[in-house]
Amino acid sequence: MRDFFPGLAGVPAAKSTISFVDGLKGILEYRGISIETLARQSSFTETAFLLLFNRLPTKPELTQFHADLTQHRRIKYKICDLLKCLPESGHPMDALQSAVAALGMFYPVADVTNESTRYWTAVRLIAKLPTIVAAFARVRRGDEPIVPRDDLSYAENFLYMLTEKIPEPALANIFDICLILHAEHTMNASTFSGLVTASTLADPYTVIASAIGTLEGPLHGGANEAVIHMLENIGSVEQVPAYLERTLGTKGKIMGFGHRIYKVKDPRAIILQDLVQQLDAHPDTNTLFTIARAVEQEMEKRIGQKGIRPNVDFYSGIIYHRMGIETDLFTPLFAISRVAGWLAHCFEQYQDNHLFRPDQIYEGPHNRPYQPLEGRTTLKNEEGKVRGKG
Ligand code: SDX
Repeated sequence: MRDFFPGLAGVPAAKSTISFVDGLKGILEYRGISIETLARQSSFTETAFLLLFNRLPTKPELTQFHADLTQHRRIKYKICDLLKCLPESGHPMDALQSAVAALGMFYPVADVTNESTRYWTAVRLIAKLPTIVAAFARVRRGDEPIVPRDDLSYAENFLYMLTEKIPEPALANIFDICLILHAEHTMNASTFSGLVTASTLADPYTVIASAIGTLEGPLHGGANEAVIHMLENIGSVEQVPAYLERTLGTKGKIMGFGHRIYKVKDPRAIILQDLVQQLDAHPDTNTLFTIARAVEQEMEKRIGQKGIRPNVDFYSGIIYHRMGIETDLFTPLFAISRVAGWLAHCFEQYQDNHLFRPDQIYEGPHNRPYQPLEGRTTLKNEEGKVRGKG
């Protein structure tokens, strides 16, 4: 009998030097540098350079990379028009995926192995995703997109394009740290999805569109949005035990908890929790945060021994909510950061490519007869309904 690993749990899909996770010790490193160090000392722009080029940039290199990203923040008016044609009630992740796939039509990539092409494709994607997210957030309300500014940092500019106000430096700094924390995480589902697409030698825009689609799901990047809805649904600290009793009792999932690799608290959740406390001089007045803390304490009592603890999505939404960012933009925020990690893995795949084509364990029938149409009868199930109909 051949071994089968549902969800490819524990099965190495690639060799990589980009990031490392120890799920028992709660360690996360980007190119060998700990996430705690990067959150304390780096910037998202510098971290993106580190992920893409496997080294920290020199001062001139960082200045040039920032200048290149700044120069490419604007999006073509046809991309804005495309966003205006999408349904206002559509999810911003679907708008982002549509716009990124369209972006690739304006910048066709002839040769994915060409180093210069790869550099400028990475610059355009890292620079333009925030502009696309902010633009859709505005056009769906009937407002014109706000033109990016060249005199603002990456984090300041995104918040400016969203709110038309230049954020306080402390707020922009906290947002920049959130971008660092979400930039990369070994072989997660969206990275794997991008790798499969890259292994066909599809261009990086198509690879990123694949990864964005995968990130959207509530078991992956969509969890940060689901956490806020859960905390609002719980409503008060007093309701936490009953909510957990009801949800866990019916085998439901508590959003923002659990991880395929971490069996301790996600090191990113530890930093994000601290950022909430930095944001709120009196965190106890932040209702969502006090409910979240109560959920964490109650979950530890109930299923902590199973290694189900807060992951990156548990506290991140509370920060974005506190910044006044709309909840359905939380997963797109994850995407504008993770595009750096997705691109690093995409380029690593191109370097030594093997098409992803796994096998399966077939459990179906063989040699079934073909019944002529006239002789077929509709099968009814126990309730007398035609089988196979909704
Ligand atoms: C991200 O992979 C990455 O690195 C992803 C990510 C990244 O940076 O890219 O870290 C970002 O996606 C974080 C995860 C965000 N998702 C959620 O918060 C959704 C809730 N979490 C669960 O759906 C779950 O924990 C997963 C999907 C994250 C991981 O699940 P696994 O490894 O597939 O494990 P499983 O679902 O089979 O659960 C194993 C057991 C089950 O109980 P038993 O059937 O064995 O009794 O643990 C239980 C599950 O019911 N369990 C949970 C739970 N997570 C697992 N029970 C309640 N609440 C949860 N959140």
